Amino acid sequence: MTPLAVDGRLELRALEPGHVPAMFSLIDANRARLREWMPWVDAAKSIRDTRSFVSAARQATLERVAMHAGMWYDGELCGAIGIHHIDAINRRGEVGYWVCADLEGQGVVTRACRRLIRYAFEDLSLNRVEIRCDPRNSRSRSIPLRLGFREEGTLRDAQWINGRFVDLVVYGLLHREWAVTAGATSLPAAGK
Ligand SMILES: CC(C)(COP(=O)(O)OP(=O)(O)OC[C@H]1O[C@@H](n2cnc3c(N)ncnc32)[C@H](O)[C@@H]1OP(=O)(O)O)[C@@H](O)C(=O)NCCC(=O)NCCS
Repeated sequence: MTPLAVDGRLELRALEPGHVPAMFSLIDANRARLREWMPWVDAAKSIRDTRSFVSAARQATLERVAMHAGMWYDGELCGAIGIHHIDAINRRGEVGYWVCADLEGQGVVTRACRRLIRYAFEDLSLNRVEIRCDPRNSRSRSIPLRLGFREEGTLRDAQWINGRFVDLVVYGLLHREWAVTAGATSLPAAGK
């Protein structure tokens, strides 16, 4: 994937081996706040763990079952965003994200999501994009709401994190709903 420009300062770059040291440092510096919401954080203990993750992420991207990118702001890695569980038959996928503490509260993730969602609908030909959030994660829940997603329901005990099950609220956006605001006309053919 060629980098996706969001604006003059923010860019999404597919993860690659050269990003591993910066990615591990950023995870390590943000570990305490990330582990509250993201189940993989405790497993990312060393640079070797991050290297394995990036390698698996690249393979998943090649197989078109996921897409993992770093968010780069003014040329510095500031977080990650991706489309997980891409289901080619049903043309759906789930967007996930995190940003470093320094850039929280500045709209970086909402802008990155908007660009990634365009990629999902226009380049991957998806019909449905989901975002799943812990009900207590109000910062995360604000993102799909800002982007015009509909709250569709709550999956009970859907995530095991920090020694307990938590619910996940599901937000969904369909291509036809996005097209109204984005100016697209019709759903691209599958496999485009
Ligand atoms: C969840 C998380 C990604 C949300 O980050 P965020 O910085 O709040 O989200 P955004 O980058 O979209 O910023 C939104 C804020 O910027 C403001 N903003 C400024 N310019 C903006 C713009 N152009 N567009 C949108 N919002 C803008 C918004 O008003 C909002 O402000 P607020 O914090 O006062 O409400 C972040 O808190 C995080 O990484 N948490 C830990 C990991 C996590 O929970 N991941 C999600 C798991 S589901």
